[in-house]
Amino acid sequence: MSNGQINMDFGPNYEELDIIGRSERINEVVTIIKTIAPTDISVLIAGESGTGKEIFANLIHKLSDRKNEKFIPINCGAIPEGLIESELFGHEKGSFTSASDKRKGYFESANNGTILLDEISELPLPSQVKLLRVLENGTFMRVGGSTNIKVDVRIIAASNKDLARMVDKGTFREDLYFRLKAVSLELPSLRERLEDIPQFVELFAKNSAEKHKRSQLNFDRDAILEIVNHPWKGNIRELKNFIDMLTVMETGKIIIGSTVRKYLKGKPNTSHLPVKFERLGEENERELIFRTLLEIKNDINLIKRYLFSTGKKEIISDYSIEEALERLDPNQAIITPYEHGDREKKEIIDLLKKYRGNRRKTAEEMNISERTLYRKITKHGIEL
Ligand SMILES: Nc1ncnc2c1ncn2[C@@H]1O[C@H](COP(=O)(O)OP(=O)(O)OP(=O)(O)O)[C@@H](O)[C@H]1O
Ligand SMILES: [Mg+2]
Repeated sequence: MSNGQINMDFGPNYEELDIIGRSERINEVVTIIKTIAPTDISVLIAGESGTGKEIFANLIHKLSDRKNEKFIPINCGAIPEGLIESELFGHEKGSFTSASDKRKGYFESANNGTILLDEISELPLPSQVKLLRVLENGTFMRVGGSTNIKVDVRIIAASNKDLARMVDKGTFREDLYFRLKAVSLELPSLRERLEDIPQFVELFAKNSAEKHKRSQLNFDRDAILEIVNHPWKGNIRELKNFIDMLTVMETGKIIIGSTVRKYLKGKPNTSHLPVKFERLGEENERELIFRTLLEIKNDINLIKRYLFSTGKKEIISDYSIEEALERLDPNQAIITPYEHGDREKKEIIDLLKKYRGNRRKTAEEMNISERTLYRKITKHGIEL
């Protein structure tokens, strides 16, 4: 994927879809999207700010038969309340003071295509009625008009507010809510997909260098750990902006842990992660705790997979943050291209020979779990 200085070789992903990430949660989202994209069913995408709602809405459009038609994202929260109906549905000449000419709305412009109604929670109640009608039979009237206009538009809605609660409070129409959420997608926060963070860092470092015409940053292992360990409340957008800022401020430098800490110091630090490390002074101890936590997280995922695999089709994301970090060469510190796979295979074969096939001892010496060793043995096709 990357031809730049940083090459973490994360293997196949959704590159063909322009989507970063192979965490289990993203796997599930992509699986659903592939199923529903070719239909006209409406979709409600929920997720915190900056989690990629627009990216995924666009993906639904790109994977549908409408892909050659328009995709129009509209931020309902950014349009003044008095103008929203005329923006969405258009208006006739003279329908209100400043309407000197008749104008098509987004729904007419997007005919045969897809509309994303972002921040749908901000849509005023009267407009909600009109939208429901479009959803039910594809018709509406321009503001000040008297004839029905028919369109064929696929509607995707997105929200970072809890619409169900708004329904309870009476600020969002229940019928519209149920009509919109024919299919619901919930995008995970960045905190719930830590294993994807190194890959985002790589992508954003590359893009940012191109955008700002600077040389691409290199990150050492400790810097990546610091980034992974930050709460990123603004999710992917915040991470992207952060890498942008680093690219400009630290051009051409190797980013180490203390540099990341320096810039993150001013940011709010109420971590949602299981642990926020204090500076212990003992880097080794810190590393050990981190690895142990990752092991626990991976084991929980394994149990979850086992529990769910009996009933439904198993969604396997054979990738973990543990692996992501293992791919960062601990000896070399700087992330540079290397033939990690071959070296690892040789190391495993040598150790298995040394310990006469004893996996526990081999795993111990490699400082990984037996389960991870087993996965690597399978991955490299090592015959025992
Ligand atoms: N999977 C991804 N791969 C690459 N870039 C991504 C991905 N997801 C999100 N981004 C980037 O992160 C930023 C935020 O994404 P997006 O605008 O889709 O979020 P959002 O959920 O719509 O946010 P908001 O709620 O604030 O509207 C964008 O710059 C987008 O390009
Ligand atoms: Mg958005």
